[in-house]
Amino acid sequence: MISPIFFVFSLIVSCSYALHVQDFCVADYTAPQGPAGYSCKDPAKVTVDDFVHSGFGVPSNSSNVFKFGFTPAFASNLPGLNGLGVSLGHTDVEIGGVVPIHSHPGATELVVVAEGSSIIGGFIGSNNKVYQKILNKGDTMVLPQGLYHFFVNQGTTPAIIYAAFSSEGPTVQLMDTSLFKNDLASDIIAKTTLLDAAQIQKLLGGTN
Ligand SMILES: *[C@@H]1O[C@H](CO)[C@@H](O)[C@H](O)[C@H]1NC(C)=O
Repeated sequence: MISPIFFVFSLIVSCSYALHVQDFCVADYTAPQGPAGYSCKDPAKVTVDDFVHSGFGVPSNSSNVFKFGFTPAFASNLPGLNGLGVSLGHTDVEIGGVVPIHSHPGATELVVVAEGSSIIGGFIGSNNKVYQKILNKGDTMVLPQGLYHFFVNQGTTPAIIYAAFSSEGPTVQLMDTSLFKNDLASDIIAKTTLLDAAQIQKLLGGTN
């Protein structure tokens, strides 16, 4: 018969062993990707550099109509994040620039304004209620999972906003393009939005 003390001892040893071997699962970009994320890199080949991302010190490319730029530190470019369920992004919003209305279907976002002032941050609840506030340097705002949100830099200086996500690879749906620049036939968009073809054509040039 196994003594209870021995049983507890073996349980502790096996648990700490299990925790030890599962410290992390650094992404192996060369191996197949499964539904849970990337395959794990051989732990013997993991180095500290797998856990470090550089690049937030330089502005993101904001040469676009919205005048904002975004640099991700996601599992796709910071392999140590794989499996950990968090990530970070760096957003630059030029004077007069905006982060267009978008959502992250699988992630809550937590932002902090690192530079700038008079930035409208807002999100829209599923009951269509808008929650918006003027944010200044040092302010933090949480954008609940899946809800449409946006930023408008009304200030007189460029803004830098850091965004943490509750996902290592948050997906993004830009409202305008998902509605009016998708693969759906315009007549179906017309039927499902109650807009007419001319209106759809006017909105981002329509689709098909
Ligand atoms: C910035 O983005 C624009 C538009 O995508 C592109 O044409 C341009 O080459 C980019 N600039 C740099 C420095 O990467």
